[in-house]
Amino acid sequence: MTATVRTRVAIVGAGPAGLLLSHLLATAGIESVVVDSRTREQIETTIRAGILEQGTVDLLAAIEGSRVHTVGHRHDGIVLGFEGSGHRIDFPSLTGRSVWLYPQHEVLKDLVAARLAGGQDLRFGVTVEAVEGADTTSPAVVATDAEGRTLRIEADVVVGADGSRSVVRPAVVGSRSGGRFREYPFAWFGILCEAPPSSDELIYSRSDAGFALISQRSETVQRMYFQCDPELDPASLSEAQIWDALQRRVPGTVLREGPIIQRDVLRFRSFVANDLRRGRVVIVGDAAHTVPPTGAKGMNLAVADVVLLAEALDGLLLRGDASLLDTFAERALRRIWKAQHFSWWMTTMLHVAPEDSEFDRLREVGELRSVVESEAGQTYLAEGYTGWPL
Ligand code: DHB
Repeated sequence: MTATVRTRVAIVGAGPAGLLLSHLLATAGIESVVVDSRTREQIETTIRAGILEQGTVDLLAAIEGSRVHTVGHRHDGIVLGFEGSGHRIDFPSLTGRSVWLYPQHEVLKDLVAARLAGGQDLRFGVTVEAVEGADTTSPAVVATDAEGRTLRIEADVVVGADGSRSVVRPAVVGSRSGGRFREYPFAWFGILCEAPPSSDELIYSRSDAGFALISQRSETVQRMYFQCDPELDPASLSEAQIWDALQRRVPGTVLREGPIIQRDVLRFRSFVANDLRRGRVVIVGDAAHTVPPTGAKGMNLAVADVVLLAEALDGLLLRGDASLLDTFAERALRRIWKAQHFSWWMTTMLHVAPEDSEFDRLREVGELRSVVESEAGQTYLAEGYTGWPL
């Protein structure tokens, strides 16, 4: 038995991109169906990054029930640490904008609740097998639902917002991976710990031992990362070894330690798919691109894609005007490559690569000095970090 549903936009993936797109479409009066292979609980509890650009916050705050302003924390700056000293970059005075620390899984709880309250057709536990008819005006998603039945979703447009292992991407680029890549010779060891904050603001620290990032979550839980070998087994270090690795990388700050309640190793990759659209099938967010985590551009870039796509679908589906969809990829890629550059720049400037020569190390410190000792340099970083206007 195959259940067939008909909608205007079939959205694969109930992450930030898919859920926000369904919200923007619903606001414009365009019906959609959202499916995700994960359970609601998995979506709402997976720990990801936490920094939202000003434009992302403004969009989310306008959604009924959003807690971004009440549970999230505004951050007006970051500290860049190197050669044993910290240098603060003040965002409002340089750009008139700030960022907010509000973890991605909290964003997702808000979005899932708002979409369900709005009557959204949102289905969990649905595994997509294939996307058909990209070159027709009625593409379809073929999937297996949570009860093991075949589900066919026929739509005017199919959107893949299904993350870096996207099953929609092959329908757009012709293969699982087709795109431009960069791998990095390091990863981040990330922890969540039960401790008070060690710093009011985020510290991005470069030391001879490598990079560390001191971030926060709440008054009682903190998130921290340190540069490690991509092959490192997260279970292989004792808590004492983890604290020692972190503390050595932030020499000017005394870390407040506490029990480590979660640990993971995050691999670094840059990727941009060869194309974002084929006919009536589009990919957005991590399905279309991946950035290394330094600078927290991932979710923000997904939001920027979706803002452009919602306008394009509005044109196509409400006014019969395909021009914005035809130019969607070209316009989205301008910001994607700026964010790729920003993430690559923050990463390479702050990390010590195993193959770095003495020249590379000293040049990178010179680069950090060029940023912190110049208002133009600070402004360049602050503009990228707080996000270019949407
Ligand atoms: C966090 C992650 C990042 O990649 C970053 O640049 C800043 C903050 C975080 O998880 O808090």
